[in-house]
Amino acid sequence: MKELRTQVVIVGAGPAGLLLGQLLQSEGIDNVVVEQRSREYIEKRVRAGVIEHGIAELISDAGAGERMKREGLVHHGIELRYDNASHRIPLSDLAGGKSIMVYGQQEVVKDLVALRLGVGALLLFETEATAIEGITTDAPYVEVDGVDGKVRISCDYVAGCDGTFGVANRTIPTSVLRRYERTYPFSWLGILAEAAPATEELIYCRHENGFALYSLRSPTVSRLYLGVRPDETLEQWSDDRIWDELNLRLATEEVPEINQGPIIERGITAMRSIVVEPMRYDRLLLAGDAAHIVPPTGAKGMNLALADVRVLFQALIAQLKSNDARLLDSYSATCLERVWRAEEFSTYMTQMLHPSYEDDFENGVQMARLRQVVDSREASTVLARNYVDLNSL
Ligand code: PHB
Repeated sequence: MKELRTQVVIVGAGPAGLLLGQLLQSEGIDNVVVEQRSREYIEKRVRAGVIEHGIAELISDAGAGERMKREGLVHHGIELRYDNASHRIPLSDLAGGKSIMVYGQQEVVKDLVALRLGVGALLLFETEATAIEGITTDAPYVEVDGVDGKVRISCDYVAGCDGTFGVANRTIPTSVLRRYERTYPFSWLGILAEAAPATEELIYCRHENGFALYSLRSPTVSRLYLGVRPDETLEQWSDDRIWDELNLRLATEEVPEINQGPIIERGITAMRSIVVEPMRYDRLLLAGDAAHIVPPTGAKGMNLALADVRVLFQALIAQLKSNDARLLDSYSATCLERVWRAEEFSTYMTQMLHPSYEDDFENGVQMARLRQVVDSREASTVLARNYVDLNSL
C-alpha cells in the first residue's frame, strides 16, 4: 500500500470539508481532502441556497466570496403566505440591518474546489475512505481507495465531513455515540426551472394541501418546492401536475400564477432531524451532516456545517500551532449548543408550515402560530434573527 503523510485528513468535499481545507491551507497547515464522488457530482448536487449574514462573511474572509458577491442576490425579507394571502417579514429591519445571501450551495462548492485546485492542494476525487484507524493513539491514519489504488494517509487529526452515512461517525464506538433522530410525515419535491422568478423574495407558504416554497437561483432560474406525502414518487408528479399544484398553493389575488418554464432538475427529499453526540472522539472531529441533519425549512444545513468549521479551524490551529488543546476539548460542547438551536428553529419552521393530513387540532395551532408571527413584532423578530444569523448569535 502506498503511504502519504499530512497534518489533517479531511474526509468529504462538501462545503464543510472544502472550507476547512481552504482555511487550514491559508494558515500553512498541510491537509488532504478525500471525496468518494466525482468533481462533476459534487458540483451539481443541488441544496438550499440561503446563506446567513455571518456565514457569507466567513466564506468571504476565507477568500472564497468573490463570485458570490458578484452573482449572489442579497435579500432583506421573506414572505409568509397562508390563506392565499402574503405577509412580508422585513428580516433586515428586524435583525439589526443584516441580510441573507441567495447563492446555491453547489456554487459555493465550485468556488472552493477551484480555489483548492488553483493552489495545487491535494483533493482526491472518486476516492473512498475505507477505514479511519488509530484515532485514540498519537498516530491515526485513514485508508483510502481510489484511482491511484489503496493509500494509507497518516496524520495528526481526522475531520469527518462525509455526511450522515459516511465512515466518520461510524468510527465512533456505539458505547460512546448517542444519536437523536426524528422523521417527519412529509417529503419535499423540489424542482429547478428555467423561468424568471415571479417574486423578489423567498415565499414560504402553508396551504391546506401542503407546504410550498418559492425560491430562486438567478434572474432566470426559479427553485420551487412542494410538500408531499413521504411515500410519493416522482413518477406520480407530471410537469403539469407540479405546476398546477404550485399555482394552487401559492396563488394570491394579486399574483394568481407563477412563471413556468422547462424543469431542468427534480428530486424528492425526505425530511428528518438527526443529532450525533459527541462531535469529537479523540483525534476524530465531526463537522456538518456527519454530526447533524436539519429539515430544510429554514435553510440551515450548510450554514450549520460551515459554522462548525469556523470553530474547528480555530481549535486545530491552536492545537497544531501552539499546542493548546483547550478549544479542541470544548469543540463538541460549543458546537452542540448551536446545533440544538438550529434544530429547534428548523423544527419550529417545519411544524408551522406543513399542515397535518390527519390532525385538525394541530392545524388550528399552526394557524394561530402563523398569525402570531405575522402580527407580533416580538415573534417576527425572533424568526428574523434566527433566519438571518442563527449561527453567529
Ligand atoms: C432553496 O432555495 O433551495 C431553499 C431556500 C430556502 C429553504 C430551503 C431551500 O428553506
